[in-house]
Amino acid sequence: MKLVFATNNAHKLREVSQVVGDRFTLLTPRECGIDEDIPEEQPTLEGNALQKARYIYARTGLDCFADDTGLEVDALGGEPGVRSARYATDGHDDEANKRLLLERMQGVEARGAQFRTAIALIIGGKEYLFEGIVRGNITLEEQGDGGFGYDPLFVAEGCEQSFAEISAEEKNAISHRGRAVRKLAEFLQEL
Ligand code: IMP
Repeated sequence: MKLVFATNNAHKLREVSQVVGDRFTLLTPRECGIDEDIPEEQPTLEGNALQKARYIYARTGLDCFADDTGLEVDALGGEPGVRSARYATDGHDDEANKRLLLERMQGVEARGAQFRTAIALIIGGKEYLFEGIVRGNITLEEQGDGGFGYDPLFVAEGCEQSFAEISAEEKNAISHRGRAVRKLAEFLQEL
């Protein structure tokens, strides 16, 4: 079964393919002739996921899904949240984002946070939403150089290593995106 996944991020594509398994062939927007940036201008993760999926569906008519993820830090009132990619600058600068987060968390003792992923699926023209959350803590400094984004700054509950120090399989087993994608996969299997 073919599904368009609204990302051109190879890292994410790999993570998600591992979870959905062989039954689904994931196509990227580029493989469907969509080269431009897909708009995500909504104030919530769910709104952005829906906006991206609707954009793909309107142009291709193919079954598709899109995700949006935010790092929600308790002590910062849920920031950076939906603005996680553009926290420090308008570009998508992971290094600047991590620096800014550590700066804002300087001297903060309660370091609880969560990654949250919203997935919007459009199948047969109907829309569905799925959510995945992983709770954890923001580290005092960067730990590890694997993963991407805020991975070196996040240690999941029950773990001692950051997301940048564990394997992709270990991360998928507990991560926000892994959880949301497994819900999506379970739903698709029941169709
Ligand atoms: P997106 O919605 O997946 O594009 O992610 C928004 C922001 O959160 C970007 O800055 C990503 O780098 C970051 N992000 C998303 N997923 C993860 C993750 O699994 N680990 C670390 N950072 C992530």
